[in-house]
This record gives sequence, C-alpha cells and structure tokens, in this order.
Amino acid sequence: MTTTTARPPSAQPATPRPRATISAKTLRTDRWWVAPALTVVGLVAWLAYATVRVFMQRDYFATGAGFHYLTPFYSPCVSDACNPAAAEFGRWVPASPLLPYALISLPFLLLFRLTCYYYRKAYYRSFWASPPACAVPDGHRTYSGETRFPLIFQNAHRYMFYAAVLISLVNTWDAIRSFWGTDGGGFGLGNLVLLANVVLLWAYTVSCHSCRHIIGGRLKHFSKHPVRYRAWGFVSRLNGHHMGLAWTTLASLAVTDFYVWAVSAGWFSDLRFIN
Ligand code: FES
Repeated sequence: MTTTTARPPSAQPATPRPRATISAKTLRTDRWWVAPALTVVGLVAWLAYATVRVFMQRDYFATGAGFHYLTPFYSPCVSDACNPAAAEFGRWVPASPLLPYALISLPFLLLFRLTCYYYRKAYYRSFWASPPACAVPDGHRTYSGETRFPLIFQNAHRYMFYAAVLISLVNTWDAIRSFWGTDGGGFGLGNLVLLANVVLLWAYTVSCHSCRHIIGGRLKHFSKHPVRYRAWGFVSRLNGHHMGLAWTTLASLAVTDFYVWAVSAGWFSDLRFIN
C-alpha cells in the first residue's frame, strides 16, 4: 500500500511566497573566505614555481654511478636540446626557449588538472567567486554552468584521464629507471623520492571521478561483475581522498623536482644507501 504526504489544499499558499529580503551579503559569520584565499595562494605559488622550472631548461636531470634521476617536469624529455641520456623516448621536438622539453606530456597534465572535478570546484570558488562558498552569493549576475563555450570542454575530462594514465606509465618507468646509473645499479634517497611521487600520482589518477565511472559505471548488476565491483570499491575508497591527493601530488611533484634540481646543480649530493 502506498501513502502520500501531499499537503491538503487548505494548507498550501494560494500564491508562491516571495523570497525573504535580506540586505546582508551573507548570514555566515564564520571565516568562509579562508579556504578560497588559501586555494588562490597555493595554486598561484605552485604555478609560478612550475612555470619557472619548466622554462629554466637546465638542472632537470642528474645521473652518476647507480642513479638516473629525471624530474617529472621534463618527462618524457623529447626536445632536441635534451641530454641524450635523459631522452629515452627520442628527441623530436625542435629546441626552443619557448617549448618545454616535455612538450607532449605537460599540456595534457595541465588539462587533466584543469578539468578535474575537484580543481574545478576549487578555482570556480576561489578565482571566479562562483560562488565563493556555500550560502555566499555568486560574484556574477548570470550563471550558465558548463553548458556553453568554453566551459563545455570541461566534459572532455575523461579523455584527459586516458592521457594521464599513459603519462603515469612514463613516470613509473622513470622511477624504475632511476635505480640504474652510469655504472650499474644502486639505491639512494632520490629513488625513494621518485617512487613516493609516482605512487601518489597513481593514487590521484586512479581516484579520478571519471576512472570510477569507467570501472563501475553503467553496470546493472555488480553481482555479475565481481572483479569490476572490487575494483570499483577500491577506486571509490580512494575517490573519497581525491581532494587530499590533488594537493599532495602538487607538493610531491614540487619536492621531486626540487630534489633533482638540487642534486643536478650540485647543491648537495644524493644520499646513497647502496652504492
Ligand atoms: S576528477 Fe580529479 S582527476 Fe578526474
């Protein structure tokens, strides 16, 4: 038997009630602006660092007896100007101060993050004030969502995910390759840094909302697809940490790059455990 909760006609207003007129911009009294302000500071600082490093075009690769460290900002190194020992995927991009050495990966990685569901929320709120926080009015008069040019291209995120998986495979190769240098194998702090970075990059990539949908979306019966169900459960748990992974990987990328930069520039030597 079904029940209905419809209000009796006598209880319904004859005309819709007008919205309450509130002159205050928001009734929130907490410091709601802290999160968007921190987001602006964090993203601008990271982008400034990454831009400087990508166009510096030096100190991106360090090698020696037992180690082979390539920063992820220059991987894969495909410019004609790359150090031949670092260019394991060929050198077929013309050398130019305006072209990043990792020209085939950086644009896709940028688009992957730019179209990421978490980053969208973060920069819509912090840079566009659209809206800056819950229960705080939008900074713009009109709102068209992501239905028009150029924001409709946010829907291409799934394809950026596929590209990010390929680039993560290259980063994985870099982490494995880092154990073999000019004179055999070895193990140092740089290997740990590269390994930790690539594990975090995989965690961020796999926790993507598109990945979750690719694995478990459109299934009518989980019971008929136990493997996909388990994979979907794993990805769903990671997905709950997507925001944390988005920030952690920005930090791990910068730390990894800085470590390779420092060793390459000779500011300090790689801490060696073996060899
Ligand atoms: S939703 Fe963030 S990477 Fe896909």
